[in-house]
Amino acid sequence: MPHNDAPTLLPPSITLRRATPADLPALAEADGRAFGQHYSDEHLEEIRRLFDPDRFLVAVDAGEIVGITGSYPFDVTLPGGAALPAAGVTWVSVAVTHRRRGILRALMAEQHRAFVADGLPVSLLTASEGAIYGRFGYGVATEHREAEVTRRRAVLRRDVPDTGGVRQVGTAELRRIAPELHRRWAAQTPGALSRDDAWWDVLLADHEWQRGGATALFHLAHPDGYVSYRIDRGAQTCRVVDMATATDEAYTALWRTLLALDLVETVLARSLTPAEPVQFLLADPRQVRTVGQYDGMWARVLDVPAVLSARRYGTELDVVLDVRDPFLDRGGRFRLRGGPDGAECTPAAGAAPVATIEVTALGSLLFGGADAGSLARAGLLAAEPAVVRRLATAFRGERAPQHGTEF
Ligand SMILES: CC(C)(COP(=O)(O)OP(=O)(O)OC[C@H]1O[C@@H](n2cnc3c(N)ncnc32)[C@H](O)[C@@H]1OP(=O)(O)O)[C@@H](O)C(=O)NCCC(=O)NCCS
Repeated sequence: MPHNDAPTLLPPSITLRRATPADLPALAEADGRAFGQHYSDEHLEEIRRLFDPDRFLVAVDAGEIVGITGSYPFDVTLPGGAALPAAGVTWVSVAVTHRRRGILRALMAEQHRAFVADGLPVSLLTASEGAIYGRFGYGVATEHREAEVTRRRAVLRRDVPDTGGVRQVGTAELRRIAPELHRRWAAQTPGALSRDDAWWDVLLADHEWQRGGATALFHLAHPDGYVSYRIDRGAQTCRVVDMATATDEAYTALWRTLLALDLVETVLARSLTPAEPVQFLLADPRQVRTVGQYDGMWARVLDVPAVLSARRYGTELDVVLDVRDPFLDRGGRFRLRGGPDGAECTPAAGAAPVATIEVTALGSLLFGGADAGSLARAGLLAAEPAVVRRLATAFRGERAPQHGTEF
């Protein structure tokens, strides 16, 4: 199993401190340098809506901000429907002049110590590069599948009922109806993140810089779901931006309507799950062409008993797990008794474990996205084959996880 217990060796001139409201322009400047963009004043005002300085840490060298990490508060849904409070780690960067000196490691250590002190059970992030966050205990928890649908040839199976119910609505109306629809979607989708009013306002502000050269947003609404999209007229493409459905009927009706958009050759969806129902709705499933598959959201378990007690399992399970967590030392032995109707996970220091698992792999299993068998073959989970099979069945959810909000 991999080892990672590199010490924090911060250069002496560098100090860490909590951000203040006045830091925002300097934070945006530093972030823009790291990610290659300039923020306008309007954009900065937009960011201010989500910015809580108490949730941001900065590294300072001679008065200059040279490192940042922050977080947003979310609730995240577990298999079975329970939601847990989670920190969504964001705005991570270190100045190009100060890289590979341990600043990120120091920021991460401090930030995650605070998460633990606050009693948070899990932290989440989306990663700019895949090699950064495993060392801090994060594992890939949701996936993005990017697919192109050849609209003219994508016809729903004849036996799929056309139940209608779809209306085109403007952004103001969507802003009113979508939060409730999204909540209903999130309650049944493992990995789904909650959206508060500030998030809705920012996502639907629909500024020029959010459009990537395509039109402003269009929306289709159904009593049980909605989809927002843009049209890239040059490419004759409809880009699905956001979709949340609380019933299969809404899902089918909204896809049927998207596929009726004359003058569009391709419907591009960036966040499909690996076995998305739309392909099975079509007479010819090959018309949903996967053009990319990427890690989506990463999860880091901070409180093993809290998260494993809160989720539900596909089969009855009674196991002692030995969780390895070199970065935060939140691992150890835990007894997990659970099933479809409930679960209890408690520390079990003296018990003999049947499986040893890296905390990264536990993050990958948390929302039911990963396969325990694959993790075992990759050396992140060690157990007898029968135990691996049982864990695989227990941790898999009925539905592939989706986080729904990029942060
Ligand atoms: C990623 C970034 C924050 C790293 O900051 P840093 O201060 O150089 O990182 P540290 O020196 O603390 O490195 C900590 C460890 O991560 C490794 N690491 C850091 N950046 C890495 C990268 N991009 N790829 C692979 N490993 C990386 C270091 O080698 C070090 O490894 P070790 O613990 O085995 O010694 C910085 O390179 C950056 O700002 N990049 C551009 C913006 C970005 O991608 N941010 C992340 C957004 S999700």
